Amino acid sequence: MASRKFFVGGNWKCNGTGEDVKKIVTVLNEAEVPSEDVVEVVVSPPFVFLQQVKGLLRPDFSVAAQNCWVRKGGAFTGEISAEMLVNLQVPWVILGHSERRALLEKLSDWTNVVLAYEPVWAIGTGKVATPAQAQEVHDGLRKWLQSNVSPAVAESTRIIYGGSVNGGNCKVLAAQPDVDGFLVGGASLKPEFVDIIKSAT
Ligand code: G3P
Repeated sequence: MASRKFFVGGNWKCNGTGEDVKKIVTVLNEAEVPSEDVVEVVVSPPFVFLQQVKGLLRPDFSVAAQNCWVRKGGAFTGEISAEMLVNLQVPWVILGHSERRALLEKLSDWTNVVLAYEPVWAIGTGKVATPAQAQEVHDGLRKWLQSNVSPAVAESTRIIYGGSVNGGNCKVLAAQPDVDGFLVGGASLKPEFVDIIKSAT
């Protein structure tokens, strides 16, 4: 799995209540998982629960927003700017998810970028890419980075897979050399998310 640290993101999408959030966080906080040197775990609750989750979540896991406004703040009703997320110490954000088709500005700094490949036919359908399919696309993306950005960025950028990942299929996918982790939707709301985190080892 090269020197890239395995990354597991839990995208809770538009799900849950305050009570559900407490239950999910309790499961995560009590889980025995590989150390943060081995796997980076980030969960992404809906905006309204971000602060609550941040306050309750174990310190070795972090939180992500599910989107943010691409420009500075101002008269943009309903938007949340990157500056606001920084101000609230939210270190990650999911940008350009296929469910939003958000605008993605050209990147000048790839240092903190994690790239997610999610075939739309696999999102929320129970149809998961085969390990060979995922590997082929991830390898292609890495080659694209190599030619269009730099060999160093290609080597260091984590490329993660999303689309019907669950506790049963995560191991074989994780075994692929260019699968550096997962972005998990439905299963991130269930205790099997812990098994997905454990597939890092
Ligand atoms: O962002 C994660 C995602 O779109 C995959 O969703 O429910 O197929 O794991 P799901």
